[in-house]
Amino acid sequence: MQIAVADRLGDTKEYYFSKKLREIAQMNENDPKVINLGIGSPDRPPHADVVEKLYSSALKDDVHGYQSYKGAVKLRKAYAEWYERYFSVELNPEAELLPLIGSKEGIMHLSMTYINPGDEVLVPDPGYPSYRSASNLAGATCVAYDLKEELGWKPDLEALGKKDLSKVKLMWVNFPHMPTGTPPDAELFKDLVAFAKKHNILLCHDNPYGFVLPAGDFSNPQPLSILSIPGAKDVAVELNSLSKSHNMAGWRFGVLAASEHIINQVMRFKSNMDSGTFLPMQLAAARALSLGDEWFQEINEVYAKRKKKAEELLDLIGCRYKTNQQGMFVWAKIPDNYKDGYEVSDRFLYKARVFITPGGIFGKNGTDHVRLSLCSTVATLEESIARIKKVLKGNSNN
Ligand SMILES: Cc1ncc(COP(=O)(O)O)c(C=O)c1O
Repeated sequence: MQIAVADRLGDTKEYYFSKKLREIAQMNENDPKVINLGIGSPDRPPHADVVEKLYSSALKDDVHGYQSYKGAVKLRKAYAEWYERYFSVELNPEAELLPLIGSKEGIMHLSMTYINPGDEVLVPDPGYPSYRSASNLAGATCVAYDLKEELGWKPDLEALGKKDLSKVKLMWVNFPHMPTGTPPDAELFKDLVAFAKKHNILLCHDNPYGFVLPAGDFSNPQPLSILSIPGAKDVAVELNSLSKSHNMAGWRFGVLAASEHIINQVMRFKSNMDSGTFLPMQLAAARALSLGDEWFQEINEVYAKRKKKAEELLDLIGCRYKTNQQGMFVWAKIPDNYKDGYEVSDRFLYKARVFITPGGIFGKNGTDHVRLSLCSTVATLEESIARIKKVLKGNSNN
């Protein structure tokens, strides 16, 4: 007997990476193992003090009970200080910050809190697939807005403003942009806030990559928050995360920064879904947020070296890319002799046992691109280059 699934699942499918990683696991029953240059999960550990804080706190007797639904005071204060220090944004830790189980959780919570069936949601193409799936699960119709190479992968707000936006309730934006690596831009943020106000749209900025390969001096990162735009809090919210900036993807720490009113509305949903996370983890996350600039210098020096190697790999395939990309990927245009990014990805997965993400999973505007992750060591990237060289050489001999 099969019980019918709820209509809300619609044509929502299992997440691409969840399926692909299963296929790679199967391939890995044989040697050589597949080198996965697909997923953006930092391979290095958090700072030693963070792990120490988790361990020493967990040894205490009085930390094992249920925790506040709104997160520990220490954690919310640490988020507020972090926002003040790096983004120059003042947030009330009591009312304007809500710790989350990763920013991905926040995408779902915002969607469930604000979307009615039939509402429309603006999602970027290319963009992080969860914006679309969370919107669909909440009953919305997604309206993709184009990000095109010729416009620097930025939205054309003038063209978008001419469309009928009367049913649009929410818009997802994300800079530094994943997958294109497009840096944030204060002018664009200003325009986005004005656009959201004009059209009465909740502007949701997803900002997990601000500390990875930021512009300028690594020892003085200056990421940009949409909430730094005057008046933004009336209409915009921001998701942030420790997954990428602090090598804590598996810990599941994110945060929603928003006006008190919005936080209270989201709490109506979230407090019915889960309870506060394990206190020692929250205290360790607070420690992570208080790390100095040396932390960012250290992680980014490593990413910068890997990026050079990743670019070497892409050169080998004949791809084209911008060198000012931010975040932990390199986004690259494939050469004309391939039909699309899927063909490139399949070729090197099955022939070289190197997995590269096809850009098409992020939307139609990514079809002729691929995305390479920087979450592998230089040695692993060199091994990938050697494998790919062999395939390319084998081919030219045919
Ligand atoms: C653009 C973007 N937003 C959100 C997330 C989810 O991050 P988190 O680990 O904080 O849930 C990712 C993860 O890959 C991402 O690329």
